[in-house]
Amino acid sequence: MFGMVNRHIIQTIQTTYGEQKWIGIIASIPEIPHFSQLQQYPDEITFLIIKKSVETLDIDIDLLLETLGRGWIKETADGPWGIYYELYGDTIFTFLNNLDSLHAALGAQLTDLSPPSFLCKHVNADTICVRYMSNRDGLTYFVKGLLKGLCEKFSYPAHVTIEQTRSDLIKYDEYLIEKI
Ligand code: HEM
Repeated sequence: MFGMVNRHIIQTIQTTYGEQKWIGIIASIPEIPHFSQLQQYPDEITFLIIKKSVETLDIDIDLLLETLGRGWIKETADGPWGIYYELYGDTIFTFLNNLDSLHAALGAQLTDLSPPSFLCKHVNADTICVRYMSNRDGLTYFVKGLLKGLCEKFSYPAHVTIEQTRSDLIKYDEYLIEKI
């Protein structure tokens, strides 16, 4: 996963649980590199940071992933990447439909990007169904957090639920965004 994602994970843990806790976590990951924002690193490192953090902090992995996803939207929208939120849609539905184009545009700058893919449709006027496909396993709750973050970003009050998780037979996760 790109350095910017790993740095977001580390920063979230440091600010949420404190520097001392983070020092305890990295003590158990001697091979951790210094992450450059725009460089790709093996996914194993990302998942090891998450695993060791969950063990050391004794927290729920799904909750951590959801917090990281929600925070990623704020982090990117409030920083230099914020322009992408203006360019790729002025409603949550349009934006979700443009996510593949957004990551494709990022891929032009970030070589080796392995982007996710999304398909969205309206189930009814107040419900959006989002299908998430990826080369990676284990990010179901990260995406739930991302979708919650997008609802906040687009001032779209809604419940986000996981409808379907991937399995050997079905190669995608599905979510419902239900307007409140
Ligand atoms: C401008 C804003 C964004 C930037 C700069 C960005 C950038 C990135 C980067 C660098 C990665 C790592 C890919 C890799 O290491 O190969 C990534 C992955 C990912 N992004 Fe984005 N992203 C943005 C917005 C979003 C949004 C709004 C969503 C969804 C709601 C999203 C969903 C994901 C997911 C699920 C992954 C994990 C990759 C996978 O599933 O295989 N991203 N993104």
